[in-house]
Amino acid sequence: MDKIRITGGQRLNGAIPISGAKNAALPLMIASLLTDETLTLTNVPRLSDVTALSRILSNQGVDRTVAGKRIGQSAETGQTISMTARQIVDTCAPYELVSTMRASFWVIAPILARMGEAKVSLPGGCAIGTRPVDLLLMALEKLGAEIVIENGYALARAPKGLKGGEIVFPKVTVGGTHTALMAAVLAQGTTVIENAACEPEVTDLAACLVKMGAKIEGAGTPRIVVTGVARLGGAHHAVLPDRIEAGTYAMAVAMTGGDVLLEGARPELLQSALDVLTRAGVEIDSTNEGIRVRRNGRGLEAVDVDTDPFPGFPTDLQAQFMALMTRAKGTSRIRETIFENRFMHVQELARLGAKIRLDGDVAHVEGVEKLTGAPVMATDLRASVSLVIGGLAAEGDTTINRVYHLDRGFEALEAKLSRCGALVERISS
Ligand code: EPU
Repeated sequence: MDKIRITGGQRLNGAIPISGAKNAALPLMIASLLTDETLTLTNVPRLSDVTALSRILSNQGVDRTVAGKRIGQSAETGQTISMTARQIVDTCAPYELVSTMRASFWVIAPILARMGEAKVSLPGGCAIGTRPVDLLLMALEKLGAEIVIENGYALARAPKGLKGGEIVFPKVTVGGTHTALMAAVLAQGTTVIENAACEPEVTDLAACLVKMGAKIEGAGTPRIVVTGVARLGGAHHAVLPDRIEAGTYAMAVAMTGGDVLLEGARPELLQSALDVLTRAGVEIDSTNEGIRVRRNGRGLEAVDVDTDPFPGFPTDLQAQFMALMTRAKGTSRIRETIFENRFMHVQELARLGAKIRLDGDVAHVEGVEKLTGAPVMATDLRASVSLVIGGLAAEGDTTINRVYHLDRGFEALEAKLSRCGALVERISS
């Protein structure tokens, strides 16, 4: 298994191109199951999650072509992937495939909507909490699906097709909203989704579905109204830039000091995180090319943060922000409100010398004078990258094991950081 070795203490200066968003690309790829025409996505990041989902979709009958490189295109330019599900050849998504990636459970909605039946393995546990799918199934039931759980699978049937209905989510769920949208677009009649997730990835999926011929109003607000259509067609759509990748590199620069332009990053997608960084003493400027992040000379102030659904501070930046606060002046209080067990990075940050006390869903992070390098590992993607941020500021070498977590969600991480002066290398074994 590959490792990443970081020799800490270098400031970051330069430019980092921001890739297409993993969490937008995945539901967009799944939406290709809704039509027999071709859906072409551009700016798709090169990530192992994208490859894994491609494999799952080809099992259901999606043909895929990846456009070759164009003259002048860098290795970091997103891919263009065309997907065509002329026929869905298998309405079952098996355990072996779904258990590798939770988001693949979302195929249940387009397969059911198009074929009137779907059998999808329940995704099982996950390093950041129990992450049930009850609300996704509830949404499908509100649209007339009959669902039974048998042998670890959700079997959904709607022999006469799905019918529009009212879906009220008791809590905000991104995957629930994606599922509801993909089911409702082909249902007969009107569907109202209340307490819908407002995350930009939901808005991006809705925008793509509209290009495919869907009728959707209110995406990006808590109330989405979908008027079902008989069929959807092909479309071209560019995946939106990754706000979590942008926020992660912003925190890396905040941690090391320096001056970096996050090329293509859109401030409105991560305003809450940028506001928190500003309060911590980081200079943030929006430019035509992206977001410029600077910290020169000044120390970091401790800032308290609660994670929240969009437009609040994202849970997917909580670990990275905690790494940053280990070097702040004073104590920061970080509350995780989305997932019940998303503090797996705490013990590993402690190996770098961080002082963090956990009290239920709150982490009290007491800033320390210095971090020192150590071998570390993490059990999920965002936790792993928080250790990269720690390692960039730690004295000496930090070796991050289980790099496959990083490869799931960060395209060309070592190249992007090295180009700005970080001492980062991948050690293949
Ligand atoms: N929940 C339920 N029942 C459900 C669905 C969700 O109780 O049926 C709970 C979850 O357990 C959690 C909360 O609702 O406590 C929110 O979960 P949500 O459904 O919003 O999460 P998700 O759709 O499974 C996506 C992202 C996550 C991100 C969350 C929250 C993708 C592929 N995943 O997950 O991203 O943390 O939304 O914003 O889009 C990551 O990229 O590292 C990652 C974990």
